[in-house]
Amino acid sequence: MPVAHENEKLKILIRSTAIHKRVVQVACKITRDYKGERVHLVGVLKGACIFLSDLVREINLETSIDFMAVSSYGKKKESSGQVRVLKDLESSIEGLHVIVVEDILDTGLTLSYLLRVLQQRRPASLRIAALLDKPSRRIKPVKGDYVGFQIPNEFVVGYGLDYAERYRNLKDVCVLTLPEGAQ
Ligand code: IMP
Repeated sequence: MPVAHENEKLKILIRSTAIHKRVVQVACKITRDYKGERVHLVGVLKGACIFLSDLVREINLETSIDFMAVSSYGKKKESSGQVRVLKDLESSIEGLHVIVVEDILDTGLTLSYLLRVLQQRRPASLRIAALLDKPSRRIKPVKGDYVGFQIPNEFVVGYGLDYAERYRNLKDVCVLTLPEGAQ
């Protein structure tokens, strides 16, 4: 069982074995969909780094990767709704088949902003891969093209996802419960 910080509680939601199996399936689908093409994966830091590194190794195509960082929730569990680019891409995406790789699609605020920014740079195509999807939380109508798992409205950590920078290293995706009064 993963070790929780102070009075926080962790409960496994998706085991690492199930994550691995699903990542392979998603990568196979990408490999089929982009047959004969090169795909350019854009990871959204920091949460997507683990998903991206597992995913790219299972894609059997020519690939390249780049990263963007956008403002996150910080130490809070709720989105402020305001998105800021903290780190931009290193190179142009013009004419490339881009897949934005996200850890989780929640309200959709981050991705709808990012898609708008990236679309203006004239990629050949632009799709989304997200390990997790919480459809019940959606504010902006964003749909993942490649989704690992739909999950209920719970705050989750592990496999790249954090709470106050902790828990990204957990192999399983776990539901995090904070002590009373800390939400
Ligand atoms: P959105 O803009 O609300 O869709 O949120 C996107 C970002 O919020 C994700 O990339 C995560 O960094 C963060 N986030 C949303 N839900 C969770 C969660 O359950 N655990 C950890 N981070 C989350």
